[in-house]
Amino acid sequence: MISKLRKSAKNTPTHLTITQPDDWHVHVRDSEMLAAVVNFTARQFGRAIIMPNLAPPITSAQAAREYRTRILAAVDEKHDFTPLMTCYLTDNIDPKEIEAGFAQGVFTACKLYPAGATTNSDHGVTDIQNIYPVLETMQRIGMPLLIHGEVTDADIDIFDREAVFIERVMSKIIKDFPALKTVFEHITTKQAVDFVQESGANIAATITPHHLVYNRSAIFAGGINPHLYCLPIAKRELHRLALRKAATSGSSKFFLGTDSAPHSVEAKQSACGCAGVFNAPYALESYAATFDQENALDKLEGFASLHGPHFYGLEPNKCKIVLERTNIEIPKTLDIMDTQIIPFHGGEVLGWTFTGILS
Ligand code: NCD
Ligand code: ZN
Repeated sequence: MISKLRKSAKNTPTHLTITQPDDWHVHVRDSEMLAAVVNFTARQFGRAIIMPNLAPPITSAQAAREYRTRILAAVDEKHDFTPLMTCYLTDNIDPKEIEAGFAQGVFTACKLYPAGATTNSDHGVTDIQNIYPVLETMQRIGMPLLIHGEVTDADIDIFDREAVFIERVMSKIIKDFPALKTVFEHITTKQAVDFVQESGANIAATITPHHLVYNRSAIFAGGINPHLYCLPIAKRELHRLALRKAATSGSSKFFLGTDSAPHSVEAKQSACGCAGVFNAPYALESYAATFDQENALDKLEGFASLHGPHFYGLEPNKCKIVLERTNIEIPKTLDIMDTQIIPFHGGEVLGWTFTGILS
């Protein structure tokens, strides 16, 4: 399972062959958008944790089963891709529904959105106490809880919402459910890195490609850049550096989750633009470039392909993929449906290219 680095004359690797990665946090949407975006994920990843924030959200095993069927129908038959479904937690969701969905192998995990935190989170949880019976059930059956970790109080500054969530909510969940498997999703702060590192083995975190690449100043550099706006919003440079250190540390508590969240160019470039970065098309290229800059290519396989399955109690994928040290030009826009979506890194050149899956 050790990644193979093929070295060039200058002793820098020219190829990287690693176990096929999984994406532990992705939004593939529904209907036409689903058909247009899902193969970007299925092309690179063996499995993906599918976010349930559709409108209406996925709150029953039956809805998840039907959504999974729609996803599989949209995946090109040349890809061997497994969607792992999640249940969207609401204030009054029935723990029995969750337990049954998990037992039937429909639900892999539950997603907690604090109400109002992000795109399609209106049905989210208004007070964590409301779902204590659900959390008790999940702890008992070993079902992971995936958390969007931001408070939503209007008086808390947007850049502080993750740190305050740790103090007010996350610490309480961990204290009251010490054995609950919990993933702190798309972490953006040094406080979150420290919290995860200091917690037990049942607490892990996903890290996106974009939070490793830019800080909050980049969103406003030379004018407002709506394509870098996502939630949780990028923070100061010190936080980005803490995330890069955590992702490349080799710690099994940190793993890949793109949070790829496509919105049309009109929805992004609007008077009230949507949150979300569409990074699925060149996700592995982005992570590889970051790990290379950190001199940590030998840590990429753990982060991308091994730590996630280990946390979820699954085997790593059997296939290998190859990344090549070759420049790749990222298109400025992608034609999707009858509009465009701007991919992350659009218009840039990255130094690593995903060349395919070895069968
Ligand atoms: C996500 C979306 O658009 O669904 N947006 C985002 O900025 N990440 C929702 C989410 O994960 O917060
Ligand atoms: Zn997300």
